[in-house]
Amino acid sequence: MRIIFAIFIASVLTASANQLEQEGKILYETRCAICHGVDAHGTGPLAHKSNPAANDLTSPKFQERLKKYPGVIVASVVLMPNGTLIPDTLKKNKITLPRKDWKASELRALNEYLVELIKKEQH
Ligand code: HEC
Repeated sequence: MRIIFAIFIASVLTASANQLEQEGKILYETRCAICHGVDAHGTGPLAHKSNPAANDLTSPKFQERLKKYPGVIVASVVLMPNGTLIPDTLKKNKITLPRKDWKASELRALNEYLVELIKKEQH
């Protein structure tokens, strides 16, 4: 009985982790990949339409930054340290991406997905 219960709990935990990553993947691919690329290498169609260009988030330099400052992904979305650079770049290239009021759970999902993607894509 205990074993069955443990398996049940394990499968619930796995399912919710997958769900979180799945939500993060959708958010990343609809709102970030156009610049940073589906693979996070800074290869999206708009990557070089801004100055500076969109970061390769898998680069050793960014990984070092992420290690020192684990909140950097969420901070870049919430604080918009580049001011209007991102919305301006989208507008200039006629991409309509509605403004988003991020929920904490969405930020966690996005962060979870992107951190895993960076790990997978590093070389
Ligand atoms: C219009 C293109 C564009 C979109 C869309 C975009 N970014 Fe960026 N992003 C940039 C550019 C350009 C920079 C580099 C700015 C700089 O160096 O000042 C950047 C920088 C970053 C950084 C590095 C911040 C740092 O301080 O090192 C992270 C992390 C990041 N973006 C994550 C995201 C995430 C997550 C999304 C989606 C929610 C996103 N970006 C959407 C263009 C974009």
